[in-house]
Amino acid sequence: MARKKIALVGAGQIGGTMALVAAQKNLGDVVLIDIPMTQGMPKGKALDIMEGRSVINSSVDLQGSTDYAALKGADVVIVTAGFPRMPGMSRDDLLEKNCGVIKTVAEAIKEHAPEAFVIVITNPLDAMVYNMQKQSGLPSNKVIGMAGVLDSARLACFVADELGVSVEDVKALVLGGHGDTMVSIYESVSVGGIPLPQLMTKEKFAELAKRTAGAGGEIVNLLGRGSAFYSPATSAIHMAEAYLLDKKNVFSCAAKLNGEYGVKGLYCGVPVVVGANGVEKILEVKLTEEEKAAFNKSVEACKKNADWVDAHT
Ligand code: APR
Repeated sequence: MARKKIALVGAGQIGGTMALVAAQKNLGDVVLIDIPMTQGMPKGKALDIMEGRSVINSSVDLQGSTDYAALKGADVVIVTAGFPRMPGMSRDDLLEKNCGVIKTVAEAIKEHAPEAFVIVITNPLDAMVYNMQKQSGLPSNKVIGMAGVLDSARLACFVADELGVSVEDVKALVLGGHGDTMVSIYESVSVGGIPLPQLMTKEKFAELAKRTAGAGGEIVNLLGRGSAFYSPATSAIHMAEAYLLDKKNVFSCAAKLNGEYGVKGLYCGVPVVVGANGVEKILEVKLTEEEKAAFNKSVEACKKNADWVDAHT
């Protein structure tokens, strides 16, 4: 059986890290694609990882290209093409800049890899994945956005630190848009199977939820240049793995809603089941009135950006 092919459009910080992680996991052959202006950069990153494969027990092939034709035959396409945030910028500040980039990439995917499962990472995430699905015309079960996996992982990290337990035993759930309005769900967190409300007050949880909503910005400020890349990369590879290995993993991601949560035609962070058919199911979590109100507010923020995309494309 031929190896799977993973195309990474955008060979920057997240793209390069994803290539390494995919190789370490022997997930499939990898092609890193970037714009011609970057010259040898995608090839250089691919070659760098290729040369170290014997010490990571990997036998996948890695290539680099500045031609979208390299997308051909890709089973999964992960898109980071675009500009990252700088200190003082919100994700929404990238809307105008990244909208055109996504349109170009969507057209290339439509032409060269229309059967692929597409994961968008470019910010502002919910609007860019909406734009990707709209411009590529791919079915919505094959186009999702990476946000919830990362936001939930960040929340799990903060909960584990607070309780002094292993993060491996903490499962968390963050819904809504990938921005200030994201919603951390108190009763959905479990610690070794124990519901969080038995271990932590709602007030303490609210503090951690607030840090989660600002976690991307916290890293932007520390880095001084660019935004988080290690955990976004590992989160996206986790999602690709669910599809490629038909794992039917349950995680939160930006998926197109078709009436679920009372929302139609918009991308927003919700729990989904991902397997060989892409998004196989959208799961509806029972929310408290307070959570429902916060989720609806977040949906409004996603809608505002999606409306902007509609008005400008
Ligand atoms: N096609 C392909 N690649 C492109 C295109 C395009 N049309 N436009 C830009 N790129 C490339 C850039 O040349 C750059 O190498 O996308 C890459 C982005 O990499 P970085 O600037 O290092 O950004 P990164 O940290 O990887 O984040 C990428 O993900 O989390 C989001 O907010 C973040 O939108 C940003 C994206």
